[in-house]
Amino acid sequence: MPNSLFQKRFIINTGKGGVGKTTISAALALAFAARGKKTLLMQLNVVDRLGQTFGVAPIGPEIVQIQPNLFAVNATPAEAMREYAMMIVKLKSIYKVVFQNKLVEKLLRVMPGLPELTLLGKAYFHEIERDTWGRPVWDVVIIDAPATGHGMFLLQIPQVISKALSSGRMADESKRMLALLEDPSRTVINLISLPEELPVSETLELRRQIAQAFRIQLGEVFVNSVVSTPFDDSDRKWLDDVTIDDEPKENTLAATAALLQAAKFQTARERSQRANIEKLQRLLGQKPVEIQVDVDSATTREMLVRISRQLSAALFPPEGN
Ligand SMILES: Nc1ncnc2c1ncn2[C@@H]1O[C@H](COP(=O)(O)OP(=O)(O)OP(=O)(O)O)[C@@H](O)[C@H]1O
Ligand SMILES: [Mg+2]
Repeated sequence: MPNSLFQKRFIINTGKGGVGKTTISAALALAFAARGKKTLLMQLNVVDRLGQTFGVAPIGPEIVQIQPNLFAVNATPAEAMREYAMMIVKLKSIYKVVFQNKLVEKLLRVMPGLPELTLLGKAYFHEIERDTWGRPVWDVVIIDAPATGHGMFLLQIPQVISKALSSGRMADESKRMLALLEDPSRTVINLISLPEELPVSETLELRRQIAQAFRIQLGEVFVNSVVSTPFDDSDRKWLDDVTIDDEPKENTLAATAALLQAAKFQTARERSQRANIEKLQRLLGQKPVEIQVDVDSATTREMLVRISRQLSAALFPPEGN
């Protein structure tokens, strides 16, 4: 798999609100870490819930280790800006004089796009970060990008700045960021969808917009929360045809009726999801990666591990290779 997700170093995951961007980003990070890749999972200025899921303190702007090979951060513009300024001026004492935090906060408020630039800049910095021996600090950086609209804005910033400014430090940095975003050997953008009609249309539209606006390699499309029943075709036909008494007289019959109702409902859902996934596949011209709906309804570490196994099986080379 020469051009597979497994080889990438800078992975951006996006999609509509609530489709499972954070869940899939975290599960993917677990999958990479389990394969021995030193992984940085980046959330961009969100109200963190992953800390709780992983049983650690809320994840803030300082990188924390979650487990072997897995690290996480929830970048904030102010802290990213501070780190950046420190990189330039090096000495803390000088930084304090030149870049008082209050000034940083004001700058972030008045310059449109600056918060996004600093967040993306931090992500970029971690991709290029090298240790004292010149080796990459991170094998892969996984970005849980903001939902569609804001995510698109964020990714546009380097383009806008490198077009607007012809020279200077900010123009140079933006050009380097753009070079990373547009390097298909390192960077890929994955879309996350649901197997329902509207999310499928929205994903197709988002993909069209990304292809039009950016030269970022499009990667996988994840269809999250897929229902699957244990029924075969003849079971399904039987369930379709059976009529259920709405008000059965006996308790056992009532229980059976409720079970049958549930089975009918699930098979109908499975069928409609299947049709949506087929439509997505046809219009994408590529096979989406399906993630099963989990038994847990809230995000738990166990849920993330189960999803990470599905991702690993679907996307990574067989283990032992
Ligand atoms: N495969 C799944 N099975 C069951 N529940 C899931 C699955 N994927 C995600 N969820 C649940 O759906 C909810 C939304 O998921 P998540 O927070 O990952 O979405 P998001 O796209 O990051 O949302 P936002 O746009 O708010 O950041 C969470 O409660 C999560 O536990
Ligand atoms: Mg999220």
